[in-house]
Amino acid sequence: MTNLKLININNQIQDDKKLILKGLLNKKQKYLLSKYFYDEKGSKLFNKITNLKEYYPTNKELGILGNLQKEIRKKLPINSTIVEFGSGSNKKINKFIKSLSEPKEYIPIDISKEYLFENASIIAKKFSDLKVTAICADFSQTNRLNKILKNKKKIVSFFPGSTIGNYLPKNAKKILKNFSKIIGKNSYLVIGVDLIKNKKTIENAYNDKLGVTAKFNKNILNVVNKICNSNFQTKNFDHKAFYNLKKNRIEMHLISKKNFTLKINKKNIKFTKDETIHTENSHKYSKNNFVKLVNKSGFKVLKHFTDKKNYFGVFLLKVK
Ligand code: AVJ
Repeated sequence: MTNLKLININNQIQDDKKLILKGLLNKKQKYLLSKYFYDEKGSKLFNKITNLKEYYPTNKELGILGNLQKEIRKKLPINSTIVEFGSGSNKKINKFIKSLSEPKEYIPIDISKEYLFENASIIAKKFSDLKVTAICADFSQTNRLNKILKNKKKIVSFFPGSTIGNYLPKNAKKILKNFSKIIGKNSYLVIGVDLIKNKKTIENAYNDKLGVTAKFNKNILNVVNKICNSNFQTKNFDHKAFYNLKKNRIEMHLISKKNFTLKINKKNIKFTKDETIHTENSHKYSKNNFVKLVNKSGFKVLKHFTDKKNYFGVFLLKVK
């Protein structure tokens, strides 16, 4: 395909090893960064989650994006460059591309290389007039991304799925600030955010009956094994997800079913029965709290959209 270009700037196995060890050697609470969920299998499992009846965010967001198509065409520039942060599957971007007037280029950015390149080539085939430049990167690699996007005009960026919720609010602010710098003045960001709602609905979304979320959670240990040459056994862990009311977030953990010791890089890591590894935070926002965060991060809110039940928010932002 002549309209497709694949770029990999995410070759940081050494850094990954260090980051993983740092989390597992942490005294207070062992943790793993959520980005390690997403090898190819993890990305596919996440896509399966988005099809579950309990997992409301994807359906709600797709509904909102569907209702928004006219609004997007009216408000956003013609011949834009679309930048998608954390692109994942093609469900949402299909809708988004069709909403815009004659977009020039689509730049999906994701850390899951195979999955990204697969999905990017499907888009390139489907939209043959669109230049597709897929970048495998962790989107905190600001400097590298900055260089790639420097000369692009009329950038419309897209950050769906409430991926922003994975960051602590103070880091979410930093990430948005970085995005505003990368895409530049007068560029846009369409961002999806999961909203605060009753605890039961949220907890059910992360404790599905089929156990797909449990599989997704445990798969992080397979990813760690690949990166660190370690020997975690997923069968020694249980899935746990609960809503932390004080911090407005879902926390996912893996609970160890027994005492054991594991070696990584000649370091012994001790696990006691019932001890957990914290694998994910998924923060939920009220509309007002999210607007406040946005205003402190180099963007202004042009418009806000939601569904009938106020489960999910899509915000149209512009760089100040
Ligand atoms: C992709 C980070 C938005 O937090 O809901 C789904 C990941 N974890 N089920 C989320 C996830 C468990 C998802 N994000």
